[in-house]
Amino acid sequence: MKDYSPRPDLLADRVILVTGAGSGLGRAASLAYARHGATVALLGRDENRLEAVYDEILASGGPEPAMFPFDLGVADDRAFETLAGTLVHHLKRLDGILHSAHQFFSLTPLSLQTLEQWQTLMRVNLIAPFALTRACLPALRAAPSASVIFTGETHGHQPAAFWGGYAVAKAGLETLTHIWSEELGEAAPVRMNTLIPGQVATTLRSRTHPGLAPERLPQPADLMPFYLYLMGDDSLAVRGRIVECAA
Ligand SMILES: NC(=O)c1ccc[n+]([C@@H]2O[C@H](COP(=O)([O-])OP(=O)(O)OC[C@H]3O[C@@H](n4cnc5c(N)ncnc54)[C@H](OP(=O)(O)O)[C@@H]3O)[C@@H](O)[C@H]2O)c1
Repeated sequence: MKDYSPRPDLLADRVILVTGAGSGLGRAASLAYARHGATVALLGRDENRLEAVYDEILASGGPEPAMFPFDLGVADDRAFETLAGTLVHHLKRLDGILHSAHQFFSLTPLSLQTLEQWQTLMRVNLIAPFALTRACLPALRAAPSASVIFTGETHGHQPAAFWGGYAVAKAGLETLTHIWSEELGEAAPVRMNTLIPGQVATTLRSRTHPGLAPERLPQPADLMPFYLYLMGDDSLAVRGRIVECAA
């Protein structure tokens, strides 16, 4: 998959929602999707960062994106439904979601992690991807072929000490992917997969592994063949899978 070479119009006329679009992998994916023809709905809390990505897409000649300043940590069902309704009202369709937003505190033993931290970790990293996808499902089902990508984490797949509630939430995304894919069935127009990026030079990596020189790690742009493959129609048969970029 890392050698995948998408055609330039892979995502032409498609509308893709990207959470965590203002930085790291979400930013890189938003730029890559727009470069391949998609209208990207950029979601995050920090409007300035969303605007910077918006400007980058326009400057590179991509379709005009849309911005959705939104806090996944506090939204309830009504807020998710309003968001989905507003998106479809303005952009007319929805062909995919990349869930890239995440909340991370620090690597600490479970004995030091608080209930409040766990509630935030579960809300942003697991509950929001579920609730946002469910709110968008009618629009996704109306698309000819829609793709939902949840972003997993190596330690959700292979648990290790100190990753705590973050890893538990990420493990939940893998279970969610399996259950939802089975419920949707092979013939559904919507497919769901979890993508595990592995080590990438972003803010998160500098916090979890401060000793690693970022220039020696893969950059977010290096992983875009995976993000494009799973979002476009070349992966129509790939559903309910946990895909590891580093594997
Ligand atoms: N980097 C790695 O090495 C690595 C490895 C494995 C997995 N991953 C996964 O890859 C994904 C992207 O990671 P990254 O390193 O690219 O992260 P990042 O640069 O830290 O970006 C995370 C994004 O999430 C958004 N966000 C956080 N809380 C939010 C909230 N409550 N509501 C809405 N948006 C929120 C942030 O934007 P605002 O602050 O503007 O809201 C930010 O743009 C994550 O799911 C992470 O678990 C990364």
